[in-house]
Amino acid sequence: MKHLTKNTRDFVERSTEHERITSCRFPKWIGYSQATKIINRMDELLIYPKSTRMTNILLVGESNNGKTAILNKFNQKYEASYDEKTGNVINPVIMVQAPPEPDERRFYNAILENIFAPYKTSEKLDLRYLRVKKMLTELQTKALIIDEIHHVLAGTPTKQRKFLNVIKHLSNDLQIPIICAGTMLAFNVIQSDHQLANRFEPRVVPKWSNDMEFKRLLASFEALIPLKKESMLTENSITMKLLVMSDGLIGEVARILELCSIEAIKSGEEKITKEIILNIDYISPQDRKKRYFA
Ligand SMILES: Nc1ncnc2c1ncn2[C@@H]1O[C@H](COP(=O)(O)OP(=O)(O)OP(=O)(O)O)[C@@H](O)[C@H]1O
Ligand SMILES: [Mg+2]
Repeated sequence: MKHLTKNTRDFVERSTEHERITSCRFPKWIGYSQATKIINRMDELLIYPKSTRMTNILLVGESNNGKTAILNKFNQKYEASYDEKTGNVINPVIMVQAPPEPDERRFYNAILENIFAPYKTSEKLDLRYLRVKKMLTELQTKALIIDEIHHVLAGTPTKQRKFLNVIKHLSNDLQIPIICAGTMLAFNVIQSDHQLANRFEPRVVPKWSNDMEFKRLLASFEALIPLKKESMLTENSITMKLLVMSDGLIGEVARILELCSIEAIKSGEEKITKEIILNIDYISPQDRKKRYFA
């Protein structure tokens, strides 16, 4: 089983069929080169000296293409810890989702909930802001992540602008980098504001295409999938089929491979074949759209 990583090989050797099927359903992490580059850049921002003009990041990409996975991976690197000497909790990176509409109050609530800080619903907005600021300073927070930033688009242009100003103000005031992730629509909104556009460095998670990077991604998946035989996912016709079915989205690739690997175990085939790929119960993103609009 040379096609597997050592951990996966050990797992295959000591596990039942049922355990292997369960493991196919677990999300995997593959540090493909663009993801690693983005995480390295975020690491760098954490050690920048404080200033009122911090560099922020806007992670842009299509839905289901790995933005949240990158943010989670980065966030996990900087878990909260307890400093025994001072008795303080330190939380270097805080990650929240933008509220479903550009609402300042709900945004502060999301941060306070994330750090388990109780708040009164009656608390005034400015006091709530001061508390967020105080708590993040106490927790020695070095970066704030806001996922799903395109939610700000749910409001009127005035509300959108107001909310973006809150983010600008928070970054200037706390002097910490803010890392946002969202779809192309969010990118357009941020670009429309000069001050924000200057402060946000865009980083794109592109769709996958038929190149060596995609083959490397498939090879990495193959090494983590608990099958006894080699599937040769990097063989041209299989690679092409996976690319077309997934529409170049990593979430779809992961889903297709999950279904195929479960079938490969259940059927006793122990490898992903073209026949398995063609027979899984899976509808590609393009076909989903067609069915919906038909
Ligand atoms: N680095 C990775 N390695 C392996 N699988 C990944 C990786 N990144 C993403 N995936 C898979 O893709 C799926 C979708 O990723 P993710 O939720 O990060 O997308 P997203 O870009 O945040 O989408 P949305 O804009 O809809 O929130 C994940 O559930 C996971 O299965
Ligand atoms: Mg996401």
